[in-house]
Formats: sequence, structure tokens, C-alpha cells
Amino acid sequence: MTDPMQELAVPAASAVASPPVANPATAEADELVVAPQEGDERDSSFGDEDDWHSDTTSLASSIVKGRLENGRKYQSLREGEYWGPSDDKQFETMALSHLMYMILDSQQPNNLFHSPIGPNPQNILDIGTGDGTWAVEVADMFPSATVYGVDLYPPPAPWVPPNCIFQVDDVTREWTFRTKFDMIHMRELIGAFSPTELDKVYQSIYDNLQPGGWFEQLEADVRILSDDGSIKEDNVLAQWGPNFLACGERMGRPINAQETMRASFEKAGFTNIQEKLYKCPIGGWAKHKIYKDAGRVSKEHWKAGLEGWAMYLLTKFGAPQPWLPEEVLVYCAQMRQALDDRSVHGYHLTRRVWAQKPLE
Ligand SMILES: C[S@@+](CC[C@H](N)C(=O)[O-])C[C@H]1O[C@@H](n2cnc3c(N)ncnc32)[C@H](O)[C@@H]1O
Repeated sequence: MTDPMQELAVPAASAVASPPVANPATAEADELVVAPQEGDERDSSFGDEDDWHSDTTSLASSIVKGRLENGRKYQSLREGEYWGPSDDKQFETMALSHLMYMILDSQQPNNLFHSPIGPNPQNILDIGTGDGTWAVEVADMFPSATVYGVDLYPPPAPWVPPNCIFQVDDVTREWTFRTKFDMIHMRELIGAFSPTELDKVYQSIYDNLQPGGWFEQLEADVRILSDDGSIKEDNVLAQWGPNFLACGERMGRPINAQETMRASFEKAGFTNIQEKLYKCPIGGWAKHKIYKDAGRVSKEHWKAGLEGWAMYLLTKFGAPQPWLPEEVLVYCAQMRQALDDRSVHGYHLTRRVWAQKPLE
């Protein structure tokens, strides 16, 4: 069988791809190759986790209860100001995305992060830690370090190593850490910050790093692309990304960090900036085993995440007017059906950027 995948064309970063399935990246990512055969795609074995605890504090019950809206639970610390749910379904989605990134970098010496912090870091911070998996795994990797995970909502982690501390806080407020960090990590915070808040968060990150400390960020692009024309412009998969980029603009909290974060690092004064662009296949269509495995997990991640990503954004910022919850559910069902179409070879981009606070 001939390989239908071609090398990607790479237009400028600022251009919104037209048609939307074209690759908007600025850096080269590996080529994805379609496999001739595809086996069973079901690979999700994540159960619900409905327990959590924090090492440091007891929490007001209103924070733990959160806020219910359209069948989903949202954090209540920053009332109405973060679009993502904080509930079991969304924690399952985060666990799947973590697994996908672990698989994609499974041949790297360290698939949790790329910053060269050496073997003896003392303090590490994970901003927007979500379900806390990354923080727990980094704490296991460096037993001598203290790893802090901060989020608006307590993570559901049923067991936390003694050197991992979860805190409920809003990182757009003043930071009160008494220690400086060897590394600060932030993953999938798209749509969390207005441009002003983002500048403030980057400044806090910079100020709270040791001289020579590292900041690392990883952000996905919400557009679903294909290199072989298998996603036509009228496909619901092709329209998903532009729909949500527009919602982010209307919300005043952009969700295109994949394209803009390198510039944010530069603006904040970081040096030694490095980056890696990933193509994350959606579905088990890729020939290479790592991409096939990552794609299977990614498809489950998308199916688990769709409703949580869409419900808040479309019922508040959908066009031409805010959508009804029922319309969002129908849209998600259409997306799930399209994701199951085996003739489609879709992927999304993710960018990882890591850089250093100057030594002086
Ligand atoms: C999409 S999740 C990603 C979670 C985790 N980093 C991961 O990669 O699985 C984004 C997380 O950032 C948190 N978040 C959003 N705004 C925040 C803020 N201002 N302060 C702290 N956490 C925030 C959300 O509550 C959510 O858990």
C-alpha cells in the first residue's frame, strides 16, 4: 500500500490555516505515517477516582463542592472565570492526555519534562496541576525534592507521596511561596488567562525561579489537521478548532498558546529558549508503534474530553449566539461519530517550550 502521508507544509505562525486542516506550525514535527491495518482502538482502562486529599490544609466545603452547571462541576474559587470542569470525567480526560504525552516521549530519557535541571532539584512547582498526576510522578522521580501542585480545585489523587504538596490557589494572584524553584511547569492552561493575567503569571514564574532555574510549558492546538486530505473543510472535525479559537477570543482568554507562548517566554526575559513540536495523532491510524499507541489513547482522550471542553465555552461564547446545552450535546455526539471514522487520519499539534531564568 502506498503511504498517503506527505511531508507537512509549514506556513507562518500568525496565519490561521485556510483551509483549517492545514498545518499552522512554525517548527518541524515528525512525519506521521498511516498504518496499512488498524486493530482494536479501545485502550481506555481508567476508572473513576472520587477521593482526594491535600497535605497542607483543610478546605472550605464550598471549594470542594464546586459549582454545578449543565451537568458538570466547576471550581468555585475563581467563580465563573475558568472554562474547564473539575469533575471525575475531566480528571479522566487529564489522565488520558498525560498518558498520551508519556507515550509520545517514551523514548526520551525523561518523558515528564525536558528542562535539564540535573539529578538534585530541591523545589519544583506545577501550575494548574489538574488531577495531579504529573506532580506525583515528578515527586516519585526526585524523592529529595519537594514538588508543589497548585490548582483552583483539589486534585483527586488517592495517594500522594510525602514530598508532593497540593495547594488550592489562583496563580493570577500574588504568589506567597517562601522558596525559589529549580523548575516551574505548566501544561494545558489554554484559555485560563487574559493577556494581562498571562503577563502577570509569567512575571510571577520568573520572579519565583532560582537564577538559572527552568520554566517549561506544553500547550495543545485545538485544531484537528490532516496531511493527506482525509479531513475535508466541511467535516465537523475541521470546524471544531476554529470554532473554539473564536470562543476563546470572545471570552477574552485566548486558547492559541501553542502559537504564542514562545513569544511570551521571550517577553518575560527567559533565555536559552528551546522548543519541540509534536504531531499528536487522534486514533490508531499511524504506522509507527509509538504514534499508533499515542493515537489510540488520544482518541479516548478526545471522546472523554469533548463535552467538558465544549459545554462552558459554547453555552457562554458560542456563535452566532450562545448555544443551548442540548445543542452542545448533539455537537459532541457528531464529533464522537467523526472521530470513529477510520478513513480519517487526524492529528493536532502540541508545542513544548522550555527556557531558563538568566543566572545573573
Ligand atoms: C486543562 S487542565 C490541565 C491540568 C494538568 N496541567 C494536565 O496537564 O493534566 C488546566 C488546569 O488549570 C487549572 N487552572 C486554571 N486557571 C488557574 C488559575 N488561575 N490558578 C490555578 N490553576 C488554574 C484548572 O483548574 C485545571 O485543572
